[in-house]
Amino acid sequence: MGQTPAMTALQIDNLEYRWPGAPSNTLAIGSLHLKAGETLFLHGPSGCGKSTLISAIAGVVDLPEDAVRVGSQDMGRLRGGARDRFRVDHLGMIFQVFNLVPWLSALENVLLPCTFSQRRHDRAGGAPATAAQTLLDELGLDGPVVASKPASSLSVGQQQRVAAARALIGAPDLILADEPTSSLDEAAKVIFVDLLVRECARSGTALVFVSHDRGLEQHFDRSVDFRDLNRLGV
Ligand SMILES: Nc1ncnc2c1ncn2[C@@H]1O[C@H](COP(=O)(O)OP(=O)(O)OP(=O)(O)O)[C@@H](O)[C@H]1O
Ligand SMILES: [Mg+2]
Repeated sequence: MGQTPAMTALQIDNLEYRWPGAPSNTLAIGSLHLKAGETLFLHGPSGCGKSTLISAIAGVVDLPEDAVRVGSQDMGRLRGGARDRFRVDHLGMIFQVFNLVPWLSALENVLLPCTFSQRRHDRAGGAPATAAQTLLDELGLDGPVVASKPASSLSVGQQQRVAAARALIGAPDLILADEPTSSLDEAAKVIFVDLLVRECARSGTALVFVSHDRGLEQHFDRSVDFRDLNRLGV
């Protein structure tokens, strides 16, 4: 029996993508499917196309139709404002750097998705401030002192955890994390990944986690080498 769309977090089939002006394709992905709540570790050498794939899944670049589905939504059929709304409703994003709005407090940063998305607000139990504080506590940023500090005054490790809380709030269907641990030391990396995976399991959120650090892959349901996905054989 096939999976119903609701059971699928991400479905990529025959995705080709070429950056504007580039002489050849960066992506030629045969197939990548992620079940609801499944966690995936994605690795591969620098420049092979991992961040391009993350941009494609997020609908940050223009896509062909019928190539990328998040849940049951074909990302290639969304345009402009509808695409932005879908992204904030259904996706959480964590990047390597520049994750947070520096002049907002940690708590205000975490609340941003619920400000822009009624779905995320509702899925945060209709009480986003409580949900945000709980997430910050669970991620080890307990106490109102950290929560009320401007994001720019937090350590990098603290900022990455705030970014994780912002991605997690309101239980999005899928979190895309592109090298979120590269500025952290070994111990902090493991703690961060452990917390992120645990919170994803709690909210039923699927996760695509890009990293060079193979030492982290044991924390995930599945590990994939990007070069095995991409037919271009970079
Ligand atoms: N915004 C962009 N415009 C044009 N080309 C781009 C853009 N971003 C990436 N590329 C090109 O796409 C290819 C893949 O880059 P990408 O950033 O996806 O690699 P990566 O696997 O994430 O590398 P790294 O591990 O260093 O982050 C490279 O040749 C790069 O030059
Ligand atoms: Mg990259």
